[in-house]
Order: sequence, then C-alpha cells, then structure tokens
Amino acid sequence: MHDVSEMMVLDALRVVQDPDLHRDIVSLGFVKDIKICEGNLSFKIELTTPACPVKDLLKQQAYDAVMAIPGVTQVALEMTAQVRGTKTAPQDLLPGVRHVIAVASGKGGVGKSTVAVNLAVALSRTGAKVALMDADIYGPSLPLMMGVKQRPMMKETPEGAKMVPVMAHGILMMSLGFLLDDDKAVIWRGPMVAGTVRQLLSDVLWGEQDYLIVDLPPGTGDAPLSLAQLVPLSGVVIVMTPQQVAQDIANKSILMFRTVAEGSGKSIPILGVVENMSGSVFGTGGGETAAARLKVPFLGRIPLEQEVCAAGDAGQPIVLRSPDSAAAIAIKEIAGALASQVSIHQYEKDSAVITD
Ligand SMILES: Nc1ncnc2c1ncn2[C@@H]1O[C@H](COP(=O)(O)OP(=O)(O)O)[C@@H](O)[C@H]1O
Ligand SMILES: [Mg+2]
Repeated sequence: MHDVSEMMVLDALRVVQDPDLHRDIVSLGFVKDIKICEGNLSFKIELTTPACPVKDLLKQQAYDAVMAIPGVTQVALEMTAQVRGTKTAPQDLLPGVRHVIAVASGKGGVGKSTVAVNLAVALSRTGAKVALMDADIYGPSLPLMMGVKQRPMMKETPEGAKMVPVMAHGILMMSLGFLLDDDKAVIWRGPMVAGTVRQLLSDVLWGEQDYLIVDLPPGTGDAPLSLAQLVPLSGVVIVMTPQQVAQDIANKSILMFRTVAEGSGKSIPILGVVENMSGSVFGTGGGETAAARLKVPFLGRIPLEQEVCAAGDAGQPIVLRSPDSAAAIAIKEIAGALASQVSIHQYEKDSAVITD
C-alpha cells in the first residue's frame, strides 16, 4: 500500500508545461487545492484565462501524470481560471477592468467591428467576463451588430450620475449609438473626440471585467491616442484584409501605436494581426506576411462568408448564429490565441516587477 503525498503529486505535475509561458504548471503556481484521501486525489489547475486554447491538452497531461503515481486510483481534476490583470488603484479610470484590448484597422470596411464583436462574444463564451466599448464614434455599428438599441439607464454614484452599460448576448456594452438619434450627424473636432472617449470610459459603470474590447475608429486619428493616454492598454489587435493596400495602411497603424507608445512612455503591445475576408477577391496570406514583416504575432484568418455579414445585420454575431461555420471556428481560435498573447504579456510584466 502506497501513501500518496502532496509532494508526490506536485513532483508528478512538473512534467506539464504551459506552452505559452514555457514553464511548468507547478512553478507557475497553477496547481491548487490538492486533497488526498487514500487513493483518491482531487485538485484544481487555475489557468490565467478561461479561453486557454490548450486547456484540454493540459488537463489530459496532468491527469496522466498523476494517474502514474503509485497508489493513486481515482482523480478528480477541475480546470479553472483567474485572469491576472494590470495592477490598478481606485483612482484609475477603470479599476475593475483587468485588460483593455483595442481593435484597430488602418481603414474602414475591413471588418474591424465584426471582429471586435465576435471576439468579445467568443471570449465570453469561454467563461470570461467581457465588456464591449464602441469607440468608433464616427460610425458606431455595435448596436446593430449586437442587436440592441436602447438608452442606457442612469445610476447615481458618489462620483455623480453614471450610465449603466446595456446587456446584449451576455456582454455589457456601451456605444454612442445608444445616445444619438439616428438622423443626427456629429461633426467631430479633435478635443471632442478625446472628451467623448474619456466619457465612454469614466461615465460608464464598467464594473469588474476580465476583458474590455474596444472598437476603435479606423485610421490613425485622435481616438487611439486618447484611449492609450487614459487607460493602460493591454494591447492592440490589428484587422486587415489580405489586400496589399489594406496591408500598407495596417502597417501604418502598427507604426502609429509604436509611436504613441514611445511618445507616452507607455507600452502598447501589438497583440497580433487578424486577416479578415480571406479567400475573397483579395486573395489570402497578406496578413501573415505583414505580421512576419512587422515581427508581431499572426492570430489567424477569417474567411469571407456571406453568413458573417447576414449575422451582423441580424444583430446576432456569427459565433452565436452559426457556431460551426468556418468563420466562427476561425474566430474562436483567434480569441484563444489573443487570450494567450494577453497572458504572455501580463506574465512578462509580472516577472519584470519581481526581478526589478
Ligand atoms: N469575414 C467576413 N465575411 C463576410 N462579410 C464580412 C466579413 N467581415 C466583415 N464583413 C462585412 O463587411 C462589412 C464591413 O464590416 P465592419 O465590421 O462593419 O467593418 P469596419 O468596422 O472595419 O468598418 C459588414 O457588412 C460586415 O458584415
Ligand atoms: Mg466599424
């Protein structure tokens, strides 16, 4: 009869590596709540995101590792996640938001909003707490794509009246589209843009969120700058079509974020490039080439599918409406890759603090 000890369990689990962080799950502190009762073993593995793309693989490896310990007859293993975020203080604009992720593109019409909405929904479906902010104040399209249009409720707080985000498909969202009348055009001046972006952050009760996805206006205007100055950005996702022209513009927006980062002394990681409308008249592969050239991760490609457009128009994002379509599967993979990139950058930041 073998007595199983906690030490034996931890030793066995050291063979399981997190492929993103390149360390074993024991030294990463992911193994929790080990309980041993004779041959019965139970424990948890707490990952840094519920959207981890290799969750099932890690679970299987951990299960096999502990089953090989002499004396272990039964294993109950629970996979959980705790998104570790930027350290915030109460005076910060968004103290409860762990990661602000901006979705940007060099020009309009490449599917930036479609990608933002579907990434938000895909992340939320994994169990993450996700919110969505429409900072594309020139063409707010998220109300249409999420199928909601209503005035947000107001709530009195010690800091004054604030807007309660609107719930759609399990996601809290805010858009200028909720506040403007359809027929009213807004002529924007620079300071108004900055003020509006600030209000969308500070006058909305965003609460506790793992990820706040921000749909930026296309191009290199005032909105991205304001956003980067107001909140710590976990990073930016760049959407492009395979087309050469779109690529060059996307390159410009990547360079723009690098300049903003240098100018403000803040780090704004480019979390990766998404190629959208792949396989169309635009061809395929442009996004990957651009990502390689700019030395940023390539997150994946979304095919051009009529259904993506129809789903958006119907207010039901493709990952919900046709979860098994090629486009939806691609988006879910991209969401996993994105969550991995966020975890990697956060881990590097945390390690840098410790070794400083
Ligand atoms: N992969 C795709 N396949 C088919 N249609 C798409 C795809 N991605 C986006 N669209 C459609 O293209 C149009 C522009 O997309 P949108 O997300 O509004 O772009 P942007 O926000 O960059 O201006 C929308 O009608 C949208 O439904
Ligand atoms: Mg848009």
